[in-house]
Amino acid sequence: MQWTLQDRGFLPKRDPLTRLTDPAFCEIERLGGDLPRLVHERQFRTGAASYLTESVDWSAAVKRATDAELERLFMLFSYFASAFVHSPGLPSVDRIPSCIAVPLVFLADTLQRPPILSYASYCLHNWRRIDSSGPIVLGNIALLQNFSIPGDGKSDEDWFILVHVDIEARAGAALQAVGAAPEILDRKDVLGLTAMLDQTANRLHAMNTTMNRMPEGCSAEVYFRKVRPYIFGFNTIVYEGCFGNVPQSYRGETGAQSSIVPTMLMALGIQHQNSLLTEHLRDMQNYMPAPHRDFIRSQVSVRDFAGQSGDARVKDRYNACVSELLAFRTRHFEYAVNYIEKKVDNPIATGGTPYIPWLRQLIEETKAFMLA
Ligand code: HEM
Repeated sequence: MQWTLQDRGFLPKRDPLTRLTDPAFCEIERLGGDLPRLVHERQFRTGAASYLTESVDWSAAVKRATDAELERLFMLFSYFASAFVHSPGLPSVDRIPSCIAVPLVFLADTLQRPPILSYASYCLHNWRRIDSSGPIVLGNIALLQNFSIPGDGKSDEDWFILVHVDIEARAGAALQAVGAAPEILDRKDVLGLTAMLDQTANRLHAMNTTMNRMPEGCSAEVYFRKVRPYIFGFNTIVYEGCFGNVPQSYRGETGAQSSIVPTMLMALGIQHQNSLLTEHLRDMQNYMPAPHRDFIRSQVSVRDFAGQSGDARVKDRYNACVSELLAFRTRHFEYAVNYIEKKVDNPIATGGTPYIPWLRQLIEETKAFMLA
């Protein structure tokens, strides 16, 4: 079930699987269900292995698994690895046991993403619709997997991730619009460009409406204490039984692994100065599903054509897109300050970046792309 662009953007074509029904995966599902409680009781590290005993041979079941099943397995094992490594209140560890590491690395290889929890598992494949005939919007979506328990972080964690899911769904029509750029440029179709930019600005505006709702259900205090601690990267961690037991390092989960903004930057021809920051953002593309990465790279910029069209409506609509992107980044910057920077001495993001000057620089550079 290869991803192709449709109205739900980078979300999977069909809603993620809510459960693996093959009996071979029964204990994996049980561990996923028990994970928040085990983490809360600080028992995950000691308890996880008993669920993943070698007496259950699920390797044959993995070989016959569908893509959707593989995604769910990858999501679960990514959570297991992060719950094992990031156990707040327990001493740090430098290894992931083979019962988690071996399947995780196999699934990562199969799905061509790094063996760590990344945005595609944390957000894109981690939701269900409450009313399956209703839209993918806040209020009609629920989370599949948590780190935190009800009454102590779960609802804020749900909201934090589901805001991203809603934004991804809203981006769908903008991605479809910019996907039409090559034909519009070929035909030198000014009307087509106007409509394309109109739709893009409109959807970016809808994404911003959701972005603005983050504080409604996820407080800075709970985010910092119950959401963020689990999504950091791994620094020189041995995956037992893999990579010749040579320690590995990977970046943590971050919205910078969402493909929406990079697609918009390509389509609008917004280029940032080369820096460590742009290197980081490029590296984040390695954590995206390969077809999403390909989609970003296939985008063509409409900026020159919009600038040269001489049509005031085109210029206005192009600038409306840049404005919406700026609004997104400005609100996002505010969250980075309120949810993280105000709470730490050494502000390094889950993605591992000194993000405050970096995010500010992105805003400044975006402003420079308004057409005069
Ligand atoms: C409380 C809410 C949020 C906080 C505290 C937050 C924090 C951060 C931080 C610190 C970075 C720095 C880079 C890194 O380490 O990778 C980042 C990057 C990024 N985040 Fe978020 N984020 C939040 C919500 C969101 C949402 C809802 C999205 C929507 C998809 C998102 C999309 C991005 C993007 C695209 C980047 C890359 C920078 C850019 O291109 O502007 N973030 N985020």
